[in-house]
Parts: sequence; structure tokens; C-alpha cells
Amino acid sequence: MLRYLPLLLVAAGAAGTATAAAVLSAGWWWAAGPLLALTGLGCRDLAQRRDAVLRGRPLTGRLRRGRGRAVVRERSGDVDVYAEGHEFLVPSLRPVEPPEEAPVVRVGGPDCRQPYDMALLNVSAMSFGALSPRAVLALNEGARLGRFAQDTGEGGLSEHHLRGGGDLIWEIGTGYFGCRTGDGGFDAREFADKAALPEVKCVCLKLSQGAAPGGGGVLPGVKVSAGVARERGVPVGGTVVSPPCHRVFSTPRELVLFLARLRELAGGKPVGFKLCVGSRRDVLAVCRAMLAEGVAPDFVVVDGAEGGTGAAPVESAGRLGMPLTEGLITVHNALVGSGLRDRVRIGASGRVATGPDIVRRLVQGADYTNAARAMMLALGCAEARRCHTGACPAGITTQDPLRARALHVGEGSLRVQRYQRATVRSAVRVMASMGVPDPAGLTPAHLVRRTGPATLRSYAELYAWLEPGELLAGPPASWARDWDAADPDAFGRPAPRGDAEVFGRGR
Ligand SMILES: Cc1cc2nc3c(=O)[nH]c(=O)nc-3n(C[C@H](O)[C@H](O)[C@H](O)COP(=O)(O)O)c2cc1C
Repeated sequence: MLRYLPLLLVAAGAAGTATAAAVLSAGWWWAAGPLLALTGLGCRDLAQRRDAVLRGRPLTGRLRRGRGRAVVRERSGDVDVYAEGHEFLVPSLRPVEPPEEAPVVRVGGPDCRQPYDMALLNVSAMSFGALSPRAVLALNEGARLGRFAQDTGEGGLSEHHLRGGGDLIWEIGTGYFGCRTGDGGFDAREFADKAALPEVKCVCLKLSQGAAPGGGGVLPGVKVSAGVARERGVPVGGTVVSPPCHRVFSTPRELVLFLARLRELAGGKPVGFKLCVGSRRDVLAVCRAMLAEGVAPDFVVVDGAEGGTGAAPVESAGRLGMPLTEGLITVHNALVGSGLRDRVRIGASGRVATGPDIVRRLVQGADYTNAARAMMLALGCAEARRCHTGACPAGITTQDPLRARALHVGEGSLRVQRYQRATVRSAVRVMASMGVPDPAGLTPAHLVRRTGPATLRSYAELYAWLEPGELLAGPPASWARDWDAADPDAFGRPAPRGDAEVFGRGR
């Protein structure tokens, strides 16, 4: 209620001074006039639908909005093209016409019976609990309108995910929320029932995420409302800490067999996993397990260490796990080198917000991208950085119904749809200006980095790119030790060597 106090005070002042003007002296109109105008402005803020912050904080939200605009202006300022590390995509002197229809990516390997056509940009995993019911629904309706997918996040498949009719990627985390036995294990029957829902297009097993790799998801108690508690089967108001690792598998081989089991239980829908890459050896161990068992997931989502979270502020953010660039290149190369790339699609998440961001990630090895925080901005996020407190002024990361009221579902879903469409269109136009009509034409030579005051290097030069099946035929020296040490029956320790040898062209 405190958020409405300034408006209430102004309205009370306006009423008092207007009464004084009518009863005592006309001089009071000097005070009543501005107060009445402010009251009118506050009422307009409260009634409008376009700006979630103003709806949640009539009058005072204007101050925050001013700050937000300053931040946006700062960010869209000039890029320093001479700064070391600056990257640019390579335009062509023979650009092509952008295609009418944005390309989609078919997800579904040979063992999949219900492949899914994934958009180039989708809503990244954000759970009901981290997000308000309205935010979940608005993202879902946006996904339906724009024909892209929403990842449910690890908090389960809630009624809010199912109300909008949008396509869903159902994420299963270590807490198995939504398909959880009484003792916290995996409930196969409940999983199969829910996976059969027509809205569920794919299933994603979360191994880790960039904001907190090696730790289970955390939902602060302040956000565990009755609805969230019901969905997850946990007590109201208690902080929910998911276990750090899965109970149903402990080796790469068991992981791939579990993925195959999930796919069967899901009626042959595409199944994949999400991770923030730690060591290359572990990724190779999973590839070895796929080869040994003759089964592969349909997709892998790579999250960068730069990833976000709706939970407590995380000290480890950006300090544990590979940034998205190296994570993507590792997974892409490992799959190419193992001869598995044809059957496994790669999604990428980590600060994807613009068309060029999408194209950059496609060049680095992704087939499609997901965005979490950019979608929140499209919904009306004011970057108050209070997601973990449940006191979001824009109604997005709160479970307080009064605060959630700031977000208008219809407006929010339209903004999300328009944002996704404009961003994918921008990616398609950028590719066309590079002379590439669709993502298959992109190569590592299309992305260049400034490495010094007078040196520019393309990704083709900067990184080693394996040939299909090269690891099987005879790995290059820089991969041989990890490939030989990768064990399908054990996640291992990382190799004691530096990045230059691991990623560079020392082959
Ligand atoms: C509010 C919020 C909630 C999130 N919840 C989950 C989750 O439940 N499961 C998950 O795998 N990732 C979760 N993430 C991580 C995102 O899906 C994404 O991987 C990460 O934020 C990087 O994408 P971005 O830079 O576009 O935000 C969450 C992120 C945010 C901001």
C-alpha cells in the first residue's frame, strides 16, 4: 500500500486545499490547482496499461522511469569500435534480400517422434515463483501470438503456463517440481501425464545454469506464496533450495539413458538438457556416453556464466563456469567432432537481446537462442534489481497480488510478441546484409574481433573448429588428452591447462 501513499497524500491535500478555497479564501486555489493537477496525473498513471512501473507506483514511478531512460540512453550510446575485444559481423558487398518468413529450426533427432520447429528467439527458463502469475501468463500469451516457445523454468508446469495456449518447453530441475515423488525423487507417471499435454512441445532437463552452476536453484521464502507452494509441494514462506545435483543419474551414461527414458515417457517429444559448461572433459564424457549407448538428446541449451537468476543475489555469478562464447564453441565442437552434431540442436542463452546478438551466437555454434532478462524488459521491467526480494515495482518478479497488478497481461504479451518479432527480423536483416539468406550459410569467418590496436582476427582464426567426426578419426593434439580422458562412466576433473591451448588454434 505504501506505493499508493504519495498519490493518496496528494489527493488528500488537493481535497483539503480545494475545500479551503471554496470555504475560506480564493487564495487557496494557488495550492489546490497544482495538487488537483497532480492528483489527475496520478489517477491517469494508475489507469493506464502501457507502463507497469507507473501502474504500480503512480506519480513516484515517473522518477524511476526517468532514471530508466537514462540507463537505456547510456547503453545505446556509441560503441567504441577501437576497444580491444570489440567484435563485429562481416557484411557482404553482395547482400541478399531477407526472406519473407523468419527461419525456424527443426528440433528432433532420429529417436524423436514429434519434432518441434523452434523460433530463432524464445523465452528462456523462468519459473512461476521467480515470476508472478501475470508475468508467466503474459509471456505465454506473447509466445502464442508470436509462435515461439516459453521455457517453464524449473518450478513446474503451472496453470499460468497453460492458460495462454503458447508452446512450452517444460524444464525439469533437480527438485523435479511438477513430477516429484513424496520423497523428492522423479515421478515417472506424473511426468508422462503432463508431458502428454499438447502445449508441451519439448522437455529440458536442467543440469546447471550460468548464474549458479554447481548449485541447485533457490527460491527465496518471501516469494513462496500459497500458489507457488502448491505447485512445488513445499511449505508456504520457506526458502526452496533445489538439490545441487540430480538423484536419478550420477554418470554421463546414466544421464543419456535418463534422457532417452524421458523421451519415451514424453511420447517421443524432443528432449534435451541445459548446462553452463564447466570443463570440456565433462562435455566430451557425455558425447562418449551418447556414442556408447547409441542415443542422443535432441537439443542442448548452453547458458553462459553471464546468466541471470530470479533468486538471491549470487556472489558466484560470472565467476563459475564458462562464458557463453567458450561454452558454445566447446559444445558445438564436441558434437561436431563426435559426429553427433547433425542430430543435436544447440540453443544459447546469456545476454541475447538484439538481432546482431542472435547472429553472433549462431556464428559461434548455436542453432537458436533464448532470452530471459530481455523478455522481462519487454514486459516492462524497470531494472530495480529487487527480483530476489519479491518487491518488484513492475509486477514481474513478485508474488504480492497488489504489486503484480502493475503488469497488464494484454499489454505485456503484445510487447513481448512485438519485441521477439522485431528482434528476429533484425537478425534476419543482419544475415541478409552479410549475404546469408539463412543461418546455415554462417561460418566462423563472419565474426571478427579486435585483438590489438592494429589487429583484427576472425573466429575462424581465433578458435579451433573440428571437422565432423574428427575426434573419432583421430583427435587433434589440443583435444587428444581430454578426449582420451573423457569417461562415459564418470564426470571428471578438468584438465590442468590454460584456455589458449584448449580453445586456440594450437592443433
Ligand atoms: C527471473 C529469472 C528466473 C530464472 N529461472 C530459471 C529457471 O527456473 N531455470 C533455469 O534454467 N534458468 C533460469 N533462469 C536463467 C535464464 O533462463 C537464463 O539462462 C539466464 O538468465 C541467461 O539469459 P539472459 O541473459 O537472457 O537473462 C532465470 C533467470 C531469471 C532472470
